[in-house]
Amino acid sequence: MRFLKLVLLLLLLFQLSAYELTDGIRAEVAPYLIPKDHPAKKALDAIFSHADFRVVQNKESLEKAGFVSFGEHHTSGIHVLVHKQLKHLAIKCYCDDFYKEDWQYWIARIRGRNFIEQAIEDRGCQKYFKTPKKWIYPIPEGHRAPAGYNEQHYLLIVELMDTYDRKKNREKWKNFGDKSLYWHLYNIITDTGAADSNFVDNIPFCHDGRVAFIDTEAFHRWPISYDRMTHYLSHPIKIYWQHLISTGGQKE
Ligand SMILES: Nc1ncnc2c1ncn2[C@@H]1O[C@H](COP(=O)(O)OP(=O)(O)O)[C@@H](O)[C@H]1O
Ligand SMILES: [Mg+2]
Repeated sequence: MRFLKLVLLLLLLFQLSAYELTDGIRAEVAPYLIPKDHPAKKALDAIFSHADFRVVQNKESLEKAGFVSFGEHHTSGIHVLVHKQLKHLAIKCYCDDFYKEDWQYWIARIRGRNFIEQAIEDRGCQKYFKTPKKWIYPIPEGHRAPAGYNEQHYLLIVELMDTYDRKKNREKWKNFGDKSLYWHLYNIITDTGAADSNFVDNIPFCHDGRVAFIDTEAFHRWPISYDRMTHYLSHPIKIYWQHLISTGGQKE
């Protein structure tokens, strides 16, 4: 199975070609664009206009433009980067050397975080949870991708969360015993179909004591594999999580 996936991926990689930026795509993206007067828009415009090369061609060109890789091991081919000109923000992007068509993933991540934010508000559990604001930035067209590359057109700007690192976060989950948080978590995931938020690396604890939903691409995706959480919980909370699963989210 893994081998098959690898072969398919290689086939796709060898077939890289730029996707066409149509008016339809522009219209779909428009509601999610970063406002023109936002400081991050201005900072990114300056970074892109100072570079005399294609910034998002690959990892090396991103680094040449001052971006620095950030965060833990990424699974989806995405680059997560910070830049000293971007305060309290990170960017997520796919480079031209990657087969994915960027814009649809950015819309999904923004819609996902919007549904989660709404669920947090509806349940009134802001003291436990948060989710970063996200916007789409249109990559300036000054430098085009070379032939044979999948020219990308957008990147995602995200609010940087003050997360603990992976090891410390996993410890936090193992030791966190307030059942109310788990009750809300179970129901937020269930209501929004946030199918990847069942994994502690995607919902890290932050220094302000709250849990941040940072990986929000999957939403309205049911059924949820609730069991994926179990491994990371303390024994009493494992039992409570099982109770939530068997009752469909009843408090107790
Ligand atoms: N908003 C954010 N604030 C802080 N760290 C983040 C944020 N978004 C992503 N990260 C870091 O980048 C990693 C990968 O991001 P994620 O969106 O989970 O990508 P993937 O879809 O590849 O899992 C996260 O595990 C985390 O370490
Ligand atoms: Mg993730």
